[in-house]
Amino acid sequence: MNYTKHILITGGAGFIGSHLVRRLVQQYPDYQIVNLDKLTYAGNLENLRDIEAAQNYVFQKGDILDMELLEGLFSQYHIDAVIHLAAESHVDRSISNPMSFIETNIVGTVTLLNAARNAWKDNFADKLFYHVSTDEVYGTLGETGLFTEDTAYDPRSPYSASKASSDHLVRAYYHTYGLPVVLSNCSNNYGPFQFPEKLLPLMINNIRNNKALPVYGDGKYTRDWLWVEDHASAIDTVFHKGVIGETYNIGGNNEWKNIDLIHQLCDLMDGLLDRPKGASRELITFVKDRPGHDRRYAIDATKIKDALGWEPEVQAEEGLKKTAEWYLSNSEWMDNVTSGTYQKYYANQYNVQSN
Ligand code: NAD
Ligand code: TYD
Repeated sequence: MNYTKHILITGGAGFIGSHLVRRLVQQYPDYQIVNLDKLTYAGNLENLRDIEAAQNYVFQKGDILDMELLEGLFSQYHIDAVIHLAAESHVDRSISNPMSFIETNIVGTVTLLNAARNAWKDNFADKLFYHVSTDEVYGTLGETGLFTEDTAYDPRSPYSASKASSDHLVRAYYHTYGLPVVLSNCSNNYGPFQFPEKLLPLMINNIRNNKALPVYGDGKYTRDWLWVEDHASAIDTVFHKGVIGETYNIGGNNEWKNIDLIHQLCDLMDGLLDRPKGASRELITFVKDRPGHDRRYAIDATKIKDALGWEPEVQAEEGLKKTAEWYLSNSEWMDNVTSGTYQKYYANQYNVQSN
């Protein structure tokens, strides 16, 4: 088959990556999709079972820090575009173990940038390096205001500092070497296949198991939630229509205080699990706050809407219901990813007995 594009996606076995891989493999049979993933605790080939046999899909297990492997992949598959998602992605883990964030998010990104430059030999016609990033690089907002593409970077966790650093390096390669790059910074995603260290799957799993729901601090921290498939569609849009050198903010126009979102989820879960109204709310437990906890994130997504015509499609109520239903009907997936080392992580993070 003569493919019209050969795309290297990094981190494609993770939460967002798997939705993106699925979308591109299914929607663009004339593109070859090469998924490079180290399969850390957060990467799981179960997330891609339905498309793993597709003709235009290749999986390669490996590390973005492995230059020899990268060189081999660029050459073997004639890679002409990269969509870079591989990262250590959880703020709490970055507080207890910052080094792996520096290694993968910073050194790994530079290694990938170097591999692209080497492979493309500074002949960049029809090439693209797309870096997927987060709104957390902008720091924290007060009660009002939104992050725009011009908001000054002010990262405050090792995770966001490592992502900010990678964003700067990607832009530096554009300005210094002319590498054709595009970036997007997105708000909190939710949906199927998210590792249950993150808020919503963790709460769903705990409700299911009648375990305490640990709410950090006063619970009034605010996030802007985006349905993960809407993020995949935004990445698809930026990949095809984004202007080289530009950055696009992606958000859901969907701000929630954590405690309000958890209440909404609890009521939904009571219905789905056929429990008395209010049963899940009784599991809510306020716990010690996360150090350096950013108070509020909210995205101004005007640029991507006006310039590229992208808008989120799934509304909060629908997305939350689909998410809760997915985790309940995929309890085997949840049980698999929460066995073994997850137990140790959980006991450590929440200061409870491992079971
Ligand atoms: P995730 O933790 O679910 O997945 C990360 C994937 O990267 C995993 O499959 C893991 O195995 C892989 N990986 C980690 N280190 C690697 C390495 N050294 N080499 C190769 N593969 C490696 O993360 P996610 O939530 O899907 O996030 C994907 C990207 O999107 C990240 O860059 C993250 O910063 C960004 N992002 C996430 C969110 C969110 O809400 N989850 C929001 C905005 C941006
Ligand atoms: P998280 O899903 O870790 O995403 P991020 O920190 O990248 O925004 O957390 C979302 C919000 O939920 C954040 O304000 C922290 C809070 N939170 C809790 O209150 N309890 C928890 O157990 C977790 C994991 C998060």
